[in-house]
Order: sequence, then structure tokens, then C-alpha cells
Amino acid sequence: MCGIVGYIGRRQAAPILLAGLKKLEYRGYDSAGVAVRGEGGIRVEKTEGRLARLVEKTEGGASLSGTVGIGHTRWATHGAPSEENAHPHLSDGERVTVVHNGILENFRELKQKLTAEGYVFHSETDSEVIADLIDYYLKKSGDPVTAICRFMQRARGSYALGVLFSDRPDEVFVARKDSPMILGVGKGEMFVASDVPALLGETRTVYYIDNLEAAVIRREGAVFYNIDGNVIEKQSVEVTMDASAAEKDGWEHFMIKEVHEQPRAVADTLSRYMKEGRADFSEAGIGEEEFSAERIVITACGSAYHVGVTLQYVIESLARVPVRVELASEMRYRDLVYGENCLVIAISQSGETADTLAALREAKAHGVRTVAIVNVQGSSVSREADRTIFTVAGPEIAVATTKAYSAQLAAGYLFALELARRKGTVSEEAYAGYIKELLSLPEKIKRVLERKEAIGSFAARHQTMRDVFMIGRGVDYSVCLEGSLKLKEISYVHTEAYAAGELKHGTISLIEEGTVVVGLLLQPRVREKTASNLEEVRSRGAHVVAMVFEGEKAEGAAEVWEIPKTEELFAASVAVVPLQLLAYYVSLQRGLDVDKPRNLAKSVTVE
Ligand code: AGP
Repeated sequence: MCGIVGYIGRRQAAPILLAGLKKLEYRGYDSAGVAVRGEGGIRVEKTEGRLARLVEKTEGGASLSGTVGIGHTRWATHGAPSEENAHPHLSDGERVTVVHNGILENFRELKQKLTAEGYVFHSETDSEVIADLIDYYLKKSGDPVTAICRFMQRARGSYALGVLFSDRPDEVFVARKDSPMILGVGKGEMFVASDVPALLGETRTVYYIDNLEAAVIRREGAVFYNIDGNVIEKQSVEVTMDASAAEKDGWEHFMIKEVHEQPRAVADTLSRYMKEGRADFSEAGIGEEEFSAERIVITACGSAYHVGVTLQYVIESLARVPVRVELASEMRYRDLVYGENCLVIAISQSGETADTLAALREAKAHGVRTVAIVNVQGSSVSREADRTIFTVAGPEIAVATTKAYSAQLAAGYLFALELARRKGTVSEEAYAGYIKELLSLPEKIKRVLERKEAIGSFAARHQTMRDVFMIGRGVDYSVCLEGSLKLKEISYVHTEAYAAGELKHGTISLIEEGTVVVGLLLQPRVREKTASNLEEVRSRGAHVVAMVFEGEKAEGAAEVWEIPKTEELFAASVAVVPLQLLAYYVSLQRGLDVDKPRNLAKSVTVE
């Protein structure tokens, strides 16, 4: 995933482009570049590495004069992170300058075709092929809109494109398929960005560019086109998102800020979908059609997938409806048997994850009803699902998700409870008890956060640990999946989540003196079983950390982490917090970039 920006107006473009890229850097940060049209034509500056290097090279943008430009921050897909592979890319002859977020899947065949036409390439990227292909169609048609539409008709893959043409000094051109793009409307100026936070400092009036749409952007506004080059009408919308939420507000990192925003995110998500003490999804248009489902498929990636694994236990236990959880990247390529009266639930923080979007489309192509649980308004998944439950977590900037994960769980619990109520599988009294427990979760998360120093000290003592195992059963196992991913993705410690009962079937051979094993003992029915598994690893030298509810014991554990007691089905919401903190503090101890870990991006909008 990458971030793109554009500007046309009366002010100097470069500082505005760099400020926008700063807000988008979490989308990709291995190189960056800008193209600004000045008196002498279009000038391009780009650097390998973080955006700060481009800011330094261009003296904060001062070295580039001009009031029209485009910019890009990259997460490499084709071609290593390097200056020549950084965007913007110019076509042969420099008539077309392009920034691109996405993947051109048929770039090899197109590159061969253009090479045969005499084009010379200077980078390893698919994006440079886009610049030359548009140039090729420009030569044939003489018209930039036609050239861009011809590109759209020929391209396979995903793109959010910003394009400058050397002979169109007062216009910026854009086109979009699958990768997100928003236009911001100012007074005598227009903005382009990959997502809303990059625009919030400038405007709240935006156009969402839909799939296979293009636009010509001028200072006074934009003209929109469909893939056939026909002018289409679009309505602008007013964005309500809180701009400050996308700032650190004094926290050292976005991640630790967002970890501490979890009580609020859970409380706000619960309150949005509750009325008079009951779950109420009528605002989302979710009703009998969805709640009459006789089987559910949950599809997602990464942490959102882990939410699905947790919700599988919760929904099956409460509503007695069979649930299967599918990795979106797998689901889209398997002949899934949806069965009668199936409901597919797609979970995604960004709403732009390519695999999840594709899995959603696959389900819809089979005529299956779809519900999305998404955090970003206006995102592709939320626009394409039949119905969407929006989590109320606010913008999540850290690459490692925390508050959105917790908010997704909260939304999922309510959905499970409403399903159970309608199916008659929980009594009114039990229902009320579950609701009461849900409403206590924010406070219980807060209480864990108040004891974060204990986790910090553990991290300091174990910062050199190389292999960590996290084990549990049922919901506890699903939390281990998330805790393991957190530790891997931001501290680079090899961590494995394991169903506690499965460890002895082979992997226990990896346990040696000092191996850290975190065991969750939060499911009463299987607590003793998991305790035995912890004894098995302890007797082989493991350093055992047991997570228990307050007041409970864990014989033999070297360390015990106590968390406030909650309903075992909802244990993930409280148990995940110490594991998030563990990942954060180990990363900190290791001097790593907590918010922008190596090789990662906030939302993976490519397959
Ligand atoms: C989570 O910390 C990771 N950044 C990643 O696994 C993420 O959950 C996954 O890419 C899915 O993203 P989404 O929720 O935006 O679809």
C-alpha cells in the first residue's frame, strides 16, 4: 500500500504535498517523491528511505516552486526500495508524470508491448509502465482524458493514480480502481489524497472517487468521467472525522495512544449499536434478512481475522449458528460451499484490504448476503457490502491495530447477542447479564492499562528473548493469535500462537531452557487442561507466564499476570491488552519504530 497526494491552487504546492504525505506515511515509508510544475515545467524530487529525507532534500518544499503537483510515499511491491523505483515516474519523453498506489497485474505484457514500441524503462516498477502506457495512448488520441480511459480499459489490477501532463499546466488528472482516493474541495484550490486524515487540515468537503472513475481537477473544481470517457455527476460529502484523532497529542507513539483509546473505542462502538439496553442494528439497516442466517462465514486478514476466530466461539456458543472463519486471501480462491441462507461477514479496519475486498466480492458474486464490520467511513469494503457496522474507534494510525481490533470485538459481541436473542437461544435474563458485562469492558480495559508498568518491566527483563509461545484454548487461543501477531509485527520477535492441547503434538520439541511461554487460563472449563500444558513446558525449561483472572493462582508459573474477571466469552477484550503492551514495550526496548515497523503498511491494498 502507498500514499498519494495532489494539489492545484494558488499556494506553493510542495509544502502542501509534503504535509499530506506526512499524514499518509503510515501507508508506506520506504521511499517518497514529489513532482511540482513550475515556470520551467515539471520538476521531480525523490529519495529512498523515510519522508524526512525528501523534506530535507527539498528544504521543506522551498526548493520546488509551483502551484500544481503530485506526491507519493511508497511501500514497495515491484522493485526494491530505491530512488529510481520511487515515485513519481515519468514516461519516456517526460510528457506524463505519474504517482500510483496499487499493482498493475498485467504490467509485464504491457511492458513488452511498449518496449516493442520503442519505450525505454528506467525502473523495475509496474508504475513506470503506467506512465508510458498513458503516454502511448496520448500519442494515439491527443487527449489526456481519452488516454487515461484507454489505460483503464487496458489495465488489470488496482490503482489510485495522480497524473500530470507536461502540456496541461493547470490540471491534475486522477483515476481509480480498488485503491482508495479522495478529492478535497478548497476555495480556488483542490486536493487529492489516499485517505481523509491527509486532507483534514485543509478541507472537510470531499468527493470519493469510485471504481473505474477518472477526473480532471482544476482550481475551480473537478470534472468526473467514467471508464468510457463520459462525464458523470458526483456529489461531495462533508467529513465529520475529528482531525486531532489523527495526531499523537503528546503520546510518544500512535500505538500507545491508541492502546489507551480502547476503553473509549469499545464504549462508543457499544453505544452506537445499543438502544434501551439492547443491541440495535437498525441504523445499519441490519435486520431479519441478516439475523435469519443459518450459517455464517467470517472473512478477514491479520488481526481482523483473529477477531473472526474469537467471534466464531462467541456466536456459536450464544446463537448456536455454525460459523466458519476464512482467511480472505484463501477464501477468494476456493470453491467455498456457502450453503442455504448463508451470511458472510467481512471484517476490516481500513476497509481497503485487497484480499478482504476480493473475498467480499466473491461472496456477493454467489448471491450471498454480506455484512461488513469496518472502521473507515467511505472505504471500499463499507461501500460494497450489503450492510456495514461501523466501529467507532476513530482514525487508527499505528500500523499495528489495537483500538480497532477491540472495537470490532465489541461490535461482534453485540451482533452475536442480537442473533442469539432472535434465535431464542439465550434467556432474557442471560441476555441482560451479557449486556451488563459488555458495558463493564471499558472499565476493565482501563484497569489493565493502569498496571502497564508490570508489563514494561517484564519487557525490559526479556527484551533479548528470541522465541515466544502463546498458548490457550477456545477464546484464549484466539487471543494468543492476536498477541503473537502484535509481538512479531512490532518487535520482530519470533512468536507462535498455539492451541494449548496441540503443542505436545510436535512443536513442544522447540521448548528449551528459558523459552518464554505465555499461557492464558481464562476459560474455566479448560483451565486445568491448559495448566497441565504449562506444566509440560515448564518441566522442559520454559519460562512460564500465566494470565489469570484476579485472585486466581497459577501453580508453577514463573510470573502471573492478573486481569479483571469478565465473562469468558468476552475475555479477549481484556486479555489482549497485556499482550499489546508486551509487544509495545519490547519494541521500545529494542529501539524499533513502533508505529512504522519494517516491511509493513497500515492497509495492504495489494494482493
Ligand atoms: C494488524 O496489526 C496488522 N497491521 C494487519 O494484520 C491488519 O490487521 C491486516 O492487514 C488487516 O487490515 P484491515 O483490518 O485494515 O483489513
